[in-house]
Amino acid sequence: MNLAAAAEAPYKDPSIPIETRVSDLLSRMTIQEKIGQMAQIDRTVASQEVIRDFGIGSVLNGGESAPAPGATPAMWADMIDGYQKAAMSTRLGIPVVYGTDAIHGHNCIVGSTIFPHNIGLGAARDEDLMVRIGRATALEVLATGVPYPFAPCIAVCRDPRWGRCYESYSEDTGIVRSMSKIILGLQGFPPTNHTSGYPFVAQGGGYVMGCAKHFAGDGGTEEGIDEHNTVSTYEDLSRIHLLPYIDAMAMGVSSVMVSFSSWNDVKMHAHRFLITQILKQEMSFQGLVISDWEGVDRITSPPGLNYTNSLEAAVNAGIDMIMVPLDYEKFCKSMNYLVSSGQIPISRIDDAVTRILRVKFILGLFERPMADRSLFSMFGHERHKELAREAVRKSLVLLKNGKGEEKMLPLSKNAPKILVAGSHAHNIGNQCGGWTLSWQGSSGNTTKGITILEGIKKAVSKETQVVFEERPDEKFLSENNDLSYAIVVVGELPYAEFLGDSKELRLALDGEEMIKTVCSSKVKCLVIIVSGRPVVIEPYVDMMEALVAAWLPGSEAGHGIADVIFGDFDFHGKLPRTWFRRVDQLPMNYGDPHYDPLYPLGFGLQMNNSSLSDGNVSSSSSSSV
Ligand code: GLC
Repeated sequence: MNLAAAAEAPYKDPSIPIETRVSDLLSRMTIQEKIGQMAQIDRTVASQEVIRDFGIGSVLNGGESAPAPGATPAMWADMIDGYQKAAMSTRLGIPVVYGTDAIHGHNCIVGSTIFPHNIGLGAARDEDLMVRIGRATALEVLATGVPYPFAPCIAVCRDPRWGRCYESYSEDTGIVRSMSKIILGLQGFPPTNHTSGYPFVAQGGGYVMGCAKHFAGDGGTEEGIDEHNTVSTYEDLSRIHLLPYIDAMAMGVSSVMVSFSSWNDVKMHAHRFLITQILKQEMSFQGLVISDWEGVDRITSPPGLNYTNSLEAAVNAGIDMIMVPLDYEKFCKSMNYLVSSGQIPISRIDDAVTRILRVKFILGLFERPMADRSLFSMFGHERHKELAREAVRKSLVLLKNGKGEEKMLPLSKNAPKILVAGSHAHNIGNQCGGWTLSWQGSSGNTTKGITILEGIKKAVSKETQVVFEERPDEKFLSENNDLSYAIVVVGELPYAEFLGDSKELRLALDGEEMIKTVCSSKVKCLVIIVSGRPVVIEPYVDMMEALVAAWLPGSEAGHGIADVIFGDFDFHGKLPRTWFRRVDQLPMNYGDPHYDPLYPLGFGLQMNNSSLSDGNVSSSSSSSV
């Protein structure tokens, strides 16, 4: 017992039980302080004065409001420590918790390790790998002072036309449940007697609080339209989209983020039955439920139509922390009105603040409020790059190898002359995809890493001439008719959320043209698709000698892909989702009637063309949402 701390205020004494600390602190708080704790505001409006004067509970950067890409870990840590100093100077000294979207590594800052996006990890199907990626991600975000990554997304994407399909591990609930083990890497392993639903973060530092998102049915909307409506029975919603949350509860996930979407036309942000009755009561979730960005405003169309009503609906539905994120004054004013008028009962406020304080105590924020600068060396660590390289290797899916008996892969490292072509061969921004340095991501030399061309050049012998021509035409090919083979790397351009919704699912730029031009010539061609989801390829498969799905492989794509196509490692990946023939078949998921894919869920070849497919999909795959 820390007698001095206990004498001053029990909540400051780390030697007493968490729930005692929570109750003690809650009992000391004014209604304004409680309302302030329920606010999460963006860093662009989060001055130290605002944090102190409003008693703000949390600060975030959205995809578009991260510090400048060139900001160093020390600059991030200084920024967050600044917010913390303001928070600790308040009457009760409640620390703020800073959140960011670290959804495939610490993707807001140059130099971090950018792991493959979730769809590629779903292809790898390696739980141990997920834990290690979670661990590495936790260390890299903590190295910059961030204790709260908004990850993992445990959406079950049921239609690849959804712009967030790459954030989903799979169309199959069982695979999503398996890959959610990343939570154990982020937060640590709870003890065997851990109470499911109670938040857990391993003590002593080095771990972060996770965020299972987006609750619920975000990946089941009609036609894959982002933020739209999931129509289903409760039974289907439960076995397809809710099951992964059961696992998240068992792992002690600290927070759950609510989906922008609706279930049977009721906005999730106002869904008391699912948030309070199912998540908090039936699943016994004791952590904090956070809204999405302006999720309260988007309860109405147009957003913010009657903010006070929406706020009442959202908080009474069970949302504990509101990602405001900008107009904190309107939030606080509306909340004060709703509480004083009794439209939001004080018991609901106390439940929300209890959960917020509980997570902050469990996270160790009261004892370790400032950035742990001893972790700077973890940022972009070589071991993490090697881990990402392993993840790339395991995520690759071989869909075709050779037109007859003769196999194209593994490629020779000693060929005299090879062509590397395509818009995604030498473009780190394209290989990382969305949520990289910015919300939408962008093409070009956006961060550190190894492009696919660079990986190929490193892997082949010194005697091999590697010709890089992004858009070869017939003239080029006729002038280079001595090629041993060609590698055509094409795909989708970076996108995120609703801006990635697509009805066409076509290769970007001149991807289809490149395949036709190069693969219809005499030279044998390997096509590598860099995309966030299956795209239209059926018309071109016959002309390809070999075909690999690489998904959005991240900063270490170059070495990871070279490791496999040149045979140092065999293929391991299996399709995490159905590869359709035509978009007019969609939605089409394993188990649906009239299932007629180009390549089925689980399909994958090894170099010798033996099948990796184990048909190992969960029973919940057969359904319509
Ligand atoms: C976004 C996303 C959510 C993200 C949040 C904060 O709109 O829906 O996944 O965590 O806002 O950037």
